[in-house]
Amino acid sequence: MSDSVVVQIEQLRKLIDDHNYAYYVLDDPSIPDAEYDRLMRELQSLEQQFPDLITPDSPTQRVGAKVDTDFAKIEHLVPMLSLDNVFSDDELSAFAKRINDRLTVVDKREFVCEPKLDGAAVSLLYEQGKLIRAATRGDGRIGEDITQNIRTIKSIPLSLRGDFPNRVEVRGEVFMSKAAFDAHNELARKNNEKLFANPRNAAAGSLRQKDPAITAKRDLSIYVYSLGLAEGIESADTHFERLQQIKSWGLPVCTEIKIAQGVPELLNYYRSILERREALPYEIDGVVYKVNSIEDQEQLGFVARAPRWATAHKFPAQEEITLLERIDFQVGRTGAITPVARLKPVFVGGVTVSNVTLHNMDEIQRLDARIGDSVIIRRAGDVIPQVVSVILERRPEDAQVVQMPEQCPVCGSEVEREDEQAIYRCSGGLVCQAQRKEAIKHFASRKAMNVDGLGDKLVEQLVDEEYITNVADLYGLTAERLVDLERMGERSAEKLVEAIAASKRTTLAKFIYALGVREVGEVTAQTLASELQTLEAIENAKEEALLALPDIGPVVAKHIETFFANESNRAVITALLEAGVHWPEVVAVAPESQPLAGKTIVLTGSFESMGRNEAKDKLVQLGAKVSGSVSGKTSIVFAGPGAGSKLNKAQELGIEVQDEAALLTLFAQYEQSV
Ligand code: IVH
Repeated sequence: MSDSVVVQIEQLRKLIDDHNYAYYVLDDPSIPDAEYDRLMRELQSLEQQFPDLITPDSPTQRVGAKVDTDFAKIEHLVPMLSLDNVFSDDELSAFAKRINDRLTVVDKREFVCEPKLDGAAVSLLYEQGKLIRAATRGDGRIGEDITQNIRTIKSIPLSLRGDFPNRVEVRGEVFMSKAAFDAHNELARKNNEKLFANPRNAAAGSLRQKDPAITAKRDLSIYVYSLGLAEGIESADTHFERLQQIKSWGLPVCTEIKIAQGVPELLNYYRSILERREALPYEIDGVVYKVNSIEDQEQLGFVARAPRWATAHKFPAQEEITLLERIDFQVGRTGAITPVARLKPVFVGGVTVSNVTLHNMDEIQRLDARIGDSVIIRRAGDVIPQVVSVILERRPEDAQVVQMPEQCPVCGSEVEREDEQAIYRCSGGLVCQAQRKEAIKHFASRKAMNVDGLGDKLVEQLVDEEYITNVADLYGLTAERLVDLERMGERSAEKLVEAIAASKRTTLAKFIYALGVREVGEVTAQTLASELQTLEAIENAKEEALLALPDIGPVVAKHIETFFANESNRAVITALLEAGVHWPEVVAVAPESQPLAGKTIVLTGSFESMGRNEAKDKLVQLGAKVSGSVSGKTSIVFAGPGAGSKLNKAQELGIEVQDEAALLTLFAQYEQSV
């Protein structure tokens, strides 16, 4: 074995460690991922040739062997404390006052403000800079040995950098980013495996795996927020300096940490983090304030297991427990029957929730949800509320299993299921009052015919009172008849008739979309209109011809052909045209000569100068594809204020992000075409 191999291996390890440090601690990747992978492979192959040179702190040695024994108990060298909580401004003021009362110097005290990460607390012991063991918090005095699992977390250095102490316990929170959590659950759902209820359970569960190879796949992260024992180093004067030290040893520290003075500044921090809660890439359940001066901390000391010098200021809960009182079945526009949980109303994530969709029977089975169960409801930000899990321990003996009804609960037609798929459908078609109502709501909706003022409630009233049975009947409504409806004034009736008349002028794409052909969304409708150009051509297109169009697959093609082959659908279309629905001729533009041809654009957040729909229409006219979700295929994301998970995903995938001003510049550039 030559010296040069030893040197080469050492260099490779250093390069990889440096990259990890730049990536995880400095948040400033130094080399592309591909280069990193290449270095790793090179190191692996050298180590394979010279196994004697493998050391436990080599970056290739993160994943150890599976164990069958229970996790060993570990006594923390310095106990791991917990935190008291405050839930209101008043409680926070009382906390600050208690501190001032106890300290000799009364002052606008300096605090370090940190996000309160929602994961699992761990303690890592480094001796001579090497990670020698890692433990869960346990009861604060004794935890469990999870060293093998901790080693798989790439942001945790196996060797410290810089001027590290001889022996040091560092404490922090292991967590799963929202993106990693979503990716994990998406995959688990596909493979019919158990989903994690939330990122906290995901982190804790992953750390308690007997097989480190499984933990390695879980994409966990860590932020370090305090020290336990520290030997062989001069203590810093402040907590903030300590955090800088910890960072200089190569450990990741949260980037949202700020110093604040006095209660108003603490509250500012709380509010600004709460505002950005959804946009942060990880889950938090509050913020933590810590007295900055270590001397003051020492003077303040502890009560029971919590320090007097720190407290957690909790955010309003995003998860609550309530009772699942009933499950109803709702029939949608295409007949799909959706089970909806009726809950004992519960205040969660800032709103009262009493109905939550359960999506389909597979979901009910996965949750094993029964009537009478206690369930955990989650509502995070603007995300629709969901049932996270059932608390099995609280299941009453008479809890009832729910079954899909065999007949449609609205029209009594047979309920059908397509090839063992998750979705059940009412076979009644437009005979079914529920499907009719949904079809009309869709037709009138903003992105379809855009009938101003024709809301869901009104459509239901019109169908229930038999004013209309299909979408074409809308154009026969008169103000004189409408005023007879309950709660309908003369002026509103006239306005509605005007709005219905105004909707007659539309575009071919919107008309096709409005018809509500299964699986034909706005993008497909736009494709049909611009490729086939006339209604006749679309109506008469055969499956093969449709398949030749961009992004139209066999399922959609079949739905389109079936829809237009249906006699009653044809009759409704004829009636609509006779009522005067019309659109300008579609002018063929060679798709490749459109300015934004081939670009896939995502809009997120809100824009000041125009609605998202308007922006979308303009982009589509310029030839762009506008998509609702960010993926590797996205070309640009235009983000306005309030942008959340889509913006995060774009940043994660390294996709170009622009603001409203850039969008306006783009439109101005092509003004003639829009
Ligand atoms: S400090 C002596 N800082 O919250 C202080 N804890 O409720 C001990 N946590 O067990 C903890 N983020 O798991 C601290 N920035 C942060 C934190 C944090 C999350 C967790 C930690 C702890 C629990 C206490």
